Amino acid sequence: MGKILVTGGAGFIGSHTVVELQEAGKDVVVLDNLSNSSEKSLERVEAITGKKVPFYKADILDRDALEEIFSKEDIYAVIHFAGLKAVGESVQKPWEYYENNIAGTLTLTDVMRKHGCKNIIFSSSATVYGNPAFIPITEECPKGQCTNPYGWTKSMLEQILSDIQKADNEWNVILLRYFNPIGAHKSGSIGENPSGIPNNLMPYITQVAVGKRDHLNVFGNDYDTHDGTGVRDYIHVVDLAQGHVKALKKIEENAGLKIYNLGTGHGYSVLDIVKNFEEATGVKIPYEIQGRRPGDIATCYADASLAKKELGWEAKYGIREMCEDSWRWQKNNPEGFI
Ligand code: NAD
Ligand code: WQD
Repeated sequence: MGKILVTGGAGFIGSHTVVELQEAGKDVVVLDNLSNSSEKSLERVEAITGKKVPFYKADILDRDALEEIFSKEDIYAVIHFAGLKAVGESVQKPWEYYENNIAGTLTLTDVMRKHGCKNIIFSSSATVYGNPAFIPITEECPKGQCTNPYGWTKSMLEQILSDIQKADNEWNVILLRYFNPIGAHKSGSIGENPSGIPNNLMPYITQVAVGKRDHLNVFGNDYDTHDGTGVRDYIHVVDLAQGHVKALKKIEENAGLKIYNLGTGHGYSVLDIVKNFEEATGVKIPYEIQGRRPGDIATCYADASLAKKELGWEAKYGIREMCEDSWRWQKNNPEGFI
């Protein structure tokens, strides 16, 4: 059948997806510019699967490098994770986000079509729903106003990839809208490795637990939720990774254009997560209530029934395993990949 190119494959979700792909017997090639990751993650993947991970250190904006990869390797599908993803940074550096994420994807898809590779699975996000019109969020929920350039890159790329598929039905495009991925591989050897102060809740909590940060700042306790703190649909990264294996099967059946939410369908508040983390690990997480974080919404969780119906996929792991596995990774690797 040929190979699967995983862009951004050294990153958090990419590395977990490479594990699941290799374990499903797929032939994988990874491309990453390592701007937000370490090649060590791929060594760890190799240790988990016992298989070599062919790796190109390259940028999706580098047309010549892409040409070389597509000429050398027999690639039939791309799973496209490569992108910048820090919400706050995107507000400070919009040009860099639009250039990297949008121009990068245009370059990638141009080289793909020139080489007759017209199958792509794209990492989108629940952020495209903006402040969602209804909860739980189905794929029918209208896309909303994003509150930051990062979110707009996802929303615009969904449009771009959809238009490409509509103009040429040889393309198969699957847009996967992830909710809030956390957790780590059971081995504790790969996981999320944010640089600097974590933006996201779970890496912040694990850094408090490991003693790198003093306490968690809870951004707002006056939302219209059961305890006033923000509610999200946290999904185990291994479940998410397995969703890509299922999406690939759908691509192989000539899916056309498809959109799926990848979430669990359950919402947990910030304080629910703190409590579950403490129960799962026995480590206390001191916290302080702060003001709301600009751009945050009260509640966001998925109706994930379409992915179950059409992909045969549903999340298997619960919040306890997500907390245990996030902690195992952080505890074993307090300084990340070194
Ligand atoms: P990550 O930063 O760990 O992985 C992204 C990878 O892409 C990194 O390894 C980075 O080095 C690489 N990269 C960035 N720009 C590149 C470029 N121009 N050329 C080549 N490689 C490049 O992030 P992640 O959490 O694994 O996210 C993967 C994808 O999923 C991203 O597109 C992200 O926007 C999307 N997503 C993530 C979340 C989340 O909460 N983690 C939620 C929804 C969607
Ligand atoms: C979760 C909850 C915070 C940190 C972001 C992106 C989204 C997607 C996933 C990529 C919220 C609260 C957080 C902290 C806190 N990424 N919180 N203290 O905002 O749902 O989604 O990541 O596509 O686009 O926006 O995730 O983990 O940042 O926050 O109280 O130190 O935790 O206010 O209620 P979010 P998050």
